[in-house]
Amino acid sequence: MTPDTFIRNELALREKQGLLRARRISGTPMRANFSSNDYLALSTDEAVIAAFREALQRYGAGSTGSPLTAGYHHAHQVLEEALADYLGVEAVLLFSSGYAANSGALNVLRRIGYTPILDKLCHASLYEGAGDKPLRYRHNDLDHLTDQLIGLPDNQDVVVVTESVFSMDGDQWDGTGLHALCDKMDTVRTGATHIFLDHAHGLGVTEVVTPSNQIKLQTGTFGKALGNGGAYVAGDQDWIDYLQQQCRHYIYSTAFGPAQAAAIHRALQVIVKEPERRTMLREYVDYFRQGAESLGLRLAPSQTPIQPLLVGDSGLAMRLSEALRQKGIVCVAIRPPTVPPGTARLRFTVTLHHDHAAIDHLFSALQEVLQQDPELAEVCCAA
Ligand SMILES: Cc1ncc(COP(=O)(O)O)c(C=O)c1O
Repeated sequence: MTPDTFIRNELALREKQGLLRARRISGTPMRANFSSNDYLALSTDEAVIAAFREALQRYGAGSTGSPLTAGYHHAHQVLEEALADYLGVEAVLLFSSGYAANSGALNVLRRIGYTPILDKLCHASLYEGAGDKPLRYRHNDLDHLTDQLIGLPDNQDVVVVTESVFSMDGDQWDGTGLHALCDKMDTVRTGATHIFLDHAHGLGVTEVVTPSNQIKLQTGTFGKALGNGGAYVAGDQDWIDYLQQQCRHYIYSTAFGPAQAAAIHRALQVIVKEPERRTMLREYVDYFRQGAESLGLRLAPSQTPIQPLLVGDSGLAMRLSEALRQKGIVCVAIRPPTVPPGTARLRFTVTLHHDHAAIDHLFSALQEVLQQDPELAEVCCAA
């Protein structure tokens, strides 16, 4: 079979299975958008936009190089220092995306001899960095993780890879349990048991993760609650210095622009100065859950702004998403392979672009859709 035929066949197969991914031009008002990760509404914050505009005038549009050539500017340094301060870590390295930060940093850890073991629901970028057929443990199942660790060669250094808030389920890691497990492993194995934590969906939304000896590296993205783009890896100075020497995704890639760094810095300042944003977001999440409960919806047990409605079948998830779109509401269906087979869902996100009226509007649209489509009602509502 030629490569051309292979590709055509694969596309046809995906279409037949209802798994073809498609883009839609964004343009829906943010009030009606329940798929964005702009949790704190910082993408449209006036102070952030003003900082962006001012820095654009000062620095120009792009960084003009890799951070190790011409691409590292004063604005990047200021952001790194502010972020290190916010996270309570020694040092931070900026990356062009969370995907690059995760895959690049984990790749380096593998090259210095760590075996990664991933929570099964880890993001694709973590899988990418963990290499072919990485070890995995059942989602948030520390007993299963323990069994896997005990089965490894005694002197093997291991890095447990997990997320503070899981991107497609909205549930959270058990930080206390995982630290206790690492401590216990130190008494029964000679190899190290360390943690690599992806804080992508937690940054600005949940508590700052307390640094520890076990968490060797923590990553996060500016593409979610900070309302922008780009990412970071944080840790002890030596580890960050080493990444700067060895991480190909850092060294051989153009830095994001200095104006972007200035805007992200301003967004971080807003988060610090206005803790009431987080409080309000939590209140909206509670309001959302109450609304879903009163409709009897089968929501995943999440306390974060990520509120998945499990549908199961990919075709039905697409049908629900499309029916909402007809009513002016955006919530894209998430299908395999992004989520495990048979767990297609609508991943609703609650943000500060919403208010009670916007959430009420969503639920009245959902109610109408489910009343008109008993098959959807059956899969979306708890028995
Ligand atoms: C858990 C998690 N990690 C990493 C990433 C990648 O971040 P970015 O969008 O900045 O590449 C994402 C975003 O999709 C994510 O959900």
